[in-house]
Amino acid sequence: MTQTRPNSLSARDAEAVFHGYTNLQAHKAQGAHVMVSGEGIRLTDESGKSFIDGLAGLWCAGLGFSEERLVEAAVKQMRALPFSSSFAQRSHPPLIELSEALGALAPAPAHRPFFVNSGSEAMECAIQAVWYFNNALGRPEKKKLVGRARGYHGVTLGAGSLTALAYKQDGFDLPASDRFLRLTCPSFYREGRPGESEADFTARLVAEFEALIQREGPETIAALVGEPLMAAGGVVVPPEGYWPAMQAVCRKHDILVVADEVVNGFCRTGEFWGSQSFGLEPDVVTCAKQLSAAFLPIGATIISDRIYDVLAKRSGELGTFGIGLTYGGHPVCAAVALETLKIYEERDILGHVRRVSPHFQSRLKALAAHPLVGETRGKGLIGGLEIVADQTTRASFPAAAKAAFKVYEAAAARGVLLRPLPSDSIGICPPMIVAPAEIDEIFDALQGALDDALPILRG
Ligand SMILES: Cc1ncc(COP(=O)(O)O)c(C=O)c1O
Repeated sequence: MTQTRPNSLSARDAEAVFHGYTNLQAHKAQGAHVMVSGEGIRLTDESGKSFIDGLAGLWCAGLGFSEERLVEAAVKQMRALPFSSSFAQRSHPPLIELSEALGALAPAPAHRPFFVNSGSEAMECAIQAVWYFNNALGRPEKKKLVGRARGYHGVTLGAGSLTALAYKQDGFDLPASDRFLRLTCPSFYREGRPGESEADFTARLVAEFEALIQREGPETIAALVGEPLMAAGGVVVPPEGYWPAMQAVCRKHDILVVADEVVNGFCRTGEFWGSQSFGLEPDVVTCAKQLSAAFLPIGATIISDRIYDVLAKRSGELGTFGIGLTYGGHPVCAAVALETLKIYEERDILGHVRRVSPHFQSRLKALAAHPLVGETRGKGLIGGLEIVADQTTRASFPAAAKAAFKVYEAAAARGVLLRPLPSDSIGICPPMIVAPAEIDEIFDALQGALDDALPILRG
């Protein structure tokens, strides 16, 4: 980490700022890495050093850091109407237009968006909508939510209860209740058994889900929640046939499918939605991040007409649908999101992702030969690699070695920002406007970083 002249922004940060997902003690001693500007896919820090942001911020800045059309859209909307409520049938043009546009794009049968400010809120509202739905249908027992180990769904009480990662749950009394259940992570590399084929692995995971439903009682299980491709848990691509088979089990037991598209959504995996890449037809979709290309905070919980009709009827009986966020559907955020969707279409960002991702994936795959790499994996413009102490036994380095963090630091020293993830993985998820030559810069730096880390980790 960079450090720290007295009165530098970094030093002032250490005195004043309370960061999330940060070792607060280390921050106090070391300060922060302060970014001051962005251009294309690059960021510049307070010392003037420039970096490729190989994680698009936090998997979100799909159009990079200098998209003028989004600036213009925000300014125009701020001048016209900086705020108006979306409660109690009050509305405004950006909310209507964005609802129409996102509803039309959503993977069927999900169709009607409810706007929030973040991915966590999108999942929180999904959970509450599912519970409200089952109460309305007169089945108050049907409330349990099934997630998967290493799944990431946010930090609020419900979403954080589904985020099956120790760093989110330890110390926070999560999961918040016994309504949150957990299945095996669909990582064939880590969870596959000796001699098991990928198809066998899928069949075992599906059988595990069936067994859990029988154990708990199908009348108690409300929804299966998952990212089509897990991102923050280590970029885990599901095994062949996984989602269609899991979805079939859900249909059989009248269990809803909630697809967390907060990272996958908006072209990232080479389809508009991760659900389309992996054969999933979700009843509920959560999205955020690239909905506005990270220029402003906005997310959505998108539900099917079948669910909407049930919620609508019940809200008529109760007098209101009792969820709403002051800034849900904020006019400026909605205008920027609408402009983002227009840019995706007009510039054929999906086509661009499809054109450059074979190069991205082949550069990623080539790193599997490196002695520190156990597995590479990815889809579209998202990738991960898993660092191991021994390629044959797949043994990890001890946690104290901080293997992924060391590779991350070495890549940052070479001018590329990536992200260390659980299971000693490194996440690679550049802005979707990345050019082939920039993909080479990213992977050249990552290759160099692995070379740099090798003697350090092997001692
Ligand atoms: C898959 C997924 N869901 C939900 C979230 C939570 O989003 P937010 O940080 O906007 O609350 C994240 C954040 O990274 C995510 O990766």
